[in-house]
Amino acid sequence: MNPESLLIARAAESIRKKTDFIPEIVLTLGSGLGAFADTLKPVCVLDYAEIDGFAVSTVEGHRGRLLFTTLEGKRVALMQGRVHLYEGYSPAEAVRPLRTLASLGAKTLFLTNAAGGVNFSFSPGDLMLITDHVSSFVESPLRGENLSEFGPRFPDMSAVYSPELCDKVRKAAKNASLSLKEGVYLQTRGPQFETPAEIRLYRALGADAVGMSTAVEAIAARHAGMSVVGVSCISNLACGMTDTPLSHEEVQETGRAAAKKFLALVRESIRLF
Ligand code: HPA
Repeated sequence: MNPESLLIARAAESIRKKTDFIPEIVLTLGSGLGAFADTLKPVCVLDYAEIDGFAVSTVEGHRGRLLFTTLEGKRVALMQGRVHLYEGYSPAEAVRPLRTLASLGAKTLFLTNAAGGVNFSFSPGDLMLITDHVSSFVESPLRGENLSEFGPRFPDMSAVYSPELCDKVRKAAKNASLSLKEGVYLQTRGPQFETPAEIRLYRALGADAVGMSTAVEAIAARHAGMSVVGVSCISNLACGMTDTPLSHEEVQETGRAAAKKFLALVRESIRLF
């Protein structure tokens, strides 16, 4: 058996020993949104450290817990914190939790993250529906021997973000009277923020927002046949667009300030899924 497949199977088994909850939806909470998980009454909570093969995030604002709960009548696995490539983890390690949850039955991935706005029409605190991504600057999570139990060697990426689910998020925004931007998310390697020249390059390539997490997760989930949808909280305007230097504190602070409307959108979307 492929060593990665074995690690995923072990991780699934160590979750199964603790709960028989079968998640339908995986909801990944980005920077500043983790506090949402503290407001829920989960059926089961597992620290990543308790799950064989799950890496623990070293980043401030990423707690590292998996919660199983029912949200708006749907069975949801909430990832409170994720690991990033810049922490030194391989793309395969970064997506191991997702693949584990896919192997436990999850069919939908709802990604949330904090991202820098590249599009001049965006403002900090805006919510952006991710309609597509650029992952060309990061290593693929599918590199190496194909895990054929999840999907094919050369998976199609023509509609990574499910058009049906995107429509539901648009409808949810309307129902909740929230304004929703849309755009292309470009994943950078990090951990350093970009330079002004890099931001000009990414804008020329069609990016509307930049971040350090999400595209590899979306790729692995599509490979595994999951339906994917994602929303970014624009925590700041990207480097060179204002005179202020960027900081992780600013990213977290805007995330916290926008958390209420972000979570209203997430809840209403999940209700419609
Ligand atoms: N760049 C990259 N990642 C980010 C940013 C940014 O400006 N803001 C939040 N995540």
